[in-house]
Amino acid sequence: MTFQPNLLQGQRAFVTGGGTGICRGIALELARHGCDVAITSRSSTHLDPTADEIRAMGRRAVAVTADVRDPQAVEAAVARTADELGGIDILVTGAAGNFLCMAEHLSPNGFGTVVDIDLKGTFHCAKAALPYLKRRGGVMLNISATLHYVGTPAQLHVACAKAGVDALTRVLAVEWGPYGIRVNGIAPGPIADTEGVRRLLDDASTQRAVETTPLRRLGRIRDVTDAAVFLCSDAASFIAGHTLVVDGGLWLTASRDAFAAPPEVADA
Ligand code: NAP
Ligand code: COA
Repeated sequence: MTFQPNLLQGQRAFVTGGGTGICRGIALELARHGCDVAITSRSSTHLDPTADEIRAMGRRAVAVTADVRDPQAVEAAVARTADELGGIDILVTGAAGNFLCMAEHLSPNGFGTVVDIDLKGTFHCAKAALPYLKRRGGVMLNISATLHYVGTPAQLHVACAKAGVDALTRVLAVEWGPYGIRVNGIAPGPIADTEGVRRLLDDASTQRAVETTPLRRLGRIRDVTDAAVFLCSDAASFIAGHTLVVDGGLWLTASRDAFAAPPEVADA
């Protein structure tokens, strides 16, 4: 399916993690729909090629490095974006870290690092962008996961962080709705051709994920970008505090075998 073009004409977006994977897809799709887009992450090597692709579509792009764990760096990146693009209407928070590790082997810093990036990083971005989103109303879209809906092994750190992200989505939807800001989320299942899947699934577990998914395939980046355009657009103008699951029905099967750590990780 292809949406009518330019659903987001004239809007300005700030996308964390926008140089790679799912959030690169979202940044490009927002640009295709008429947004000027800033992307941020730690590495300009990740950001610059995507910024060039956005410019090639005739949109303005800002590539600005920042570690979302550093509130001052996030504030500076957001301020530079607002300065260069004239404001911010859409905030997409997708910067994240993940690795497989059973809880009994997870160090305090391993747990804390993922919570710092995924959850606290989302909070830092929300706080920094609020003054700009308030100016004429806007959208915050948080990229979550489904791992915490059940007890996914080797994913305690991410499950706890993303559960917090979902809580943040609901609370900020209530606090910021009166400002005309809609806060929502997307919870992807395993998405093909992404770093997330490369880190979590080997060939056998990918095959099991496909067989267990009611729609019998892995997700595609396009599946998530379509959901993102919908939630950022006026078509979702009365949706707030909702995290939209984009997983082909996988989590409903409650079979988490596909995510289980391979034996060498479980036994490490
Ligand atoms: P990815 O390409 O590795 O995306 C993660 C991004 O976060 C990278 O661009 C990375 O760029 C950035 N990042 C990491 N740490 C950062 C930090 N401290 N500060 C700023 N940026 C940071 O992975 P992906 O698989 O596409 O995942 C994207 C999002 O979807 C994540 O929120 C993930 O949890 C979620 N998700 C993915 C899947 C999946 O199947 N792939 C499933 C469910 C949910 P730098 O290295 O340049 O910093
Ligand atoms: N298993 C167990 N612990 C691990 C680990 C693994 N595979 N990888 C990292 N850790 C631990 C480290 O040992 C360290 O803890 P310690 O100090 O107790 O040893 C802690 O996590 C931080 O690791 P470090 O490498 O210093 O963190 P970083 O800030 O450089 O990188 C990560 C953050 C670990 C999340 C890194 O994988 C990353 O940058 N990921 C971004 C891309 C990504 O994960 N994409 C998928 C998104 S779904």
